[in-house]
Amino acid sequence: MRDMHCHILPGVDDGARNITESCQMLFAARQAGVTEVVCTPHCRDPYFDFDRMWQAYYELKQHARDVSVRMGFEVNHTKLMELGMDWADRLHFEGSNEFLLELSSRCTRDDFQTYERTIFELQGRGFEVIIAHPERYRAIQKDPSIAEDLVRMGCRLQASADFVAGGRLGKEKRPAKRLFARGLYSYIASDAHRVQHYDYLERAVRLYGRDLEG
Ligand SMILES: [Fe+2]
Repeated sequence: MRDMHCHILPGVDDGARNITESCQMLFAARQAGVTEVVCTPHCRDPYFDFDRMWQAYYELKQHARDVSVRMGFEVNHTKLMELGMDWADRLHFEGSNEFLLELSSRCTRDDFQTYERTIFELQGRGFEVIIAHPERYRAIQKDPSIAEDLVRMGCRLQASADFVAGGRLGKEKRPAKRLFARGLYSYIASDAHRVQHYDYLERAVRLYGRDLEG
């Protein structure tokens, strides 16, 4: 099983604080059935430092034995706009055209006009756009048909496993269940920031993950 969204790199964002914690997370991931990890540090303020994140990745890679690791980013939409679209070439998953895009948790329906333009542009540049944790976005919580529109546009949707315990912001469980009921998710990922979050991944995959890719 691939875990395509986690904050396992040491000391670069609000995830693992050092290499010891990163290694503990790798162990927990393996125990939860993960065989491949895509490391996706936050590409947003105040964390984003491209070179430092790659250094942290190489450090972790030296310690990864039973789990294969790849580099990626969780790219915040606002940050992508600030950096410029040419940065997309440096922010997709290593070795694939997958691009993990994070929207604003406080988004409104109107914001999706801008988001859709960005998604079309990314797709036009050859990227497969994966929307991180749609269950966390206010507009989708109010109206799940927005998630259907995203899937119709060709996006893949990724659930963050902590929804089983309510989610990072505490309101994600019900919207996630609604999106699962409509068959809209392609992936479940840990979005792990620490070891305990792999328990959620195990639970979420057991409850909802049998037919999902990833
Ligand atoms: Fe994340």
